[in-house]
Amino acid sequence: MLRLEGVGVAYGKSAEVLRNLNLSLSAGEFLSVVGPNGSGKSTLLKAIAGAIPVRRGRILIDGKENDFRSVSYVFQDPAMGTVGNFTVLENMALAWRRGERRFPVPFLNGRRRKIFRDRLADLAMGLEERLATPARALSGGQRQALALAMAVLRDSRLLLLDEATAALDPRSAERIMALANRIVRESGRACIAVTHSLQQAIAYGDRLLVLRNGIAVAQFAGEEKSRLSAGELFARYES
Ligand SMILES: Nc1ncnc2c1ncn2[C@@H]1O[C@H](COP(=O)(O)OP(=O)(O)OP(=O)(O)O)[C@@H](O)[C@H]1O
Ligand SMILES: [Mg+2]
Repeated sequence: MLRLEGVGVAYGKSAEVLRNLNLSLSAGEFLSVVGPNGSGKSTLLKAIAGAIPVRRGRILIDGKENDFRSVSYVFQDPAMGTVGNFTVLENMALAWRRGERRFPVPFLNGRRRKIFRDRLADLAMGLEERLATPARALSGGQRQALALAMAVLRDSRLLLLDEATAALDPRSAERIMALANRIVRESGRACIAVTHSLQQAIAYGDRLLVLRNGIAVAQFAGEEKSRLSAGELFARYES
């Protein structure tokens, strides 16, 4: 469902921060991405989401170029995925209306409100009891979890997670990753998850990609991936 062919991405006139990247992902497949700070992980997700143009090569989603409607995204900065002055409930309503022209009005029928509450309850962070709280009054981790609930509220074909659990305590991070994994499996979405947790990258995903200086320096799958140790993976961070 996703294909990257010789993709190069650069900001403005500067040198390419992603270089000659080739990648393909089938529906239902889960790819973990790791790499040092500045290696191009967020840039990769932004390019796939259509937030920055490619300078070279092309990105195909279901065979089409420049059609990013079926992509949902949890940004590295949770403030970008949620509206601070909107309540938890209004943010969920906004996510529900994603792609529709009408601006969300806070009116919600009981059935929809229940769907939102149930989805928030899945996060096990008590957000379903804080529907009237503005997003800016949540903790960083709570806000990140809300951003995830929003990203998966409507159907999408490809879910992009940029360090979606970086601000969470270890127990919450584990729970949210397991939840994201379950959602991906049940819905048949493809998923790309960027993480700094090598354990998480080994535990989740069918495949694992290591980026360094904008280049894919290693890929692991199947048996080889599940047998990897964090130490072996870490060794790929340096040439
Ligand atoms: N808006 C921007 N304008 C110019 N350069 C940028 C911009 N965003 C990122 N870069 C540069 O692109 C390179 C890759 O950045 P990117 O954010 O993709 O790295 P990353 O792998 O996600 O790092 P981190 O682990 O710190 O999140 C870096 O050298 C960075 O300085
Ligand atoms: Mg990043």
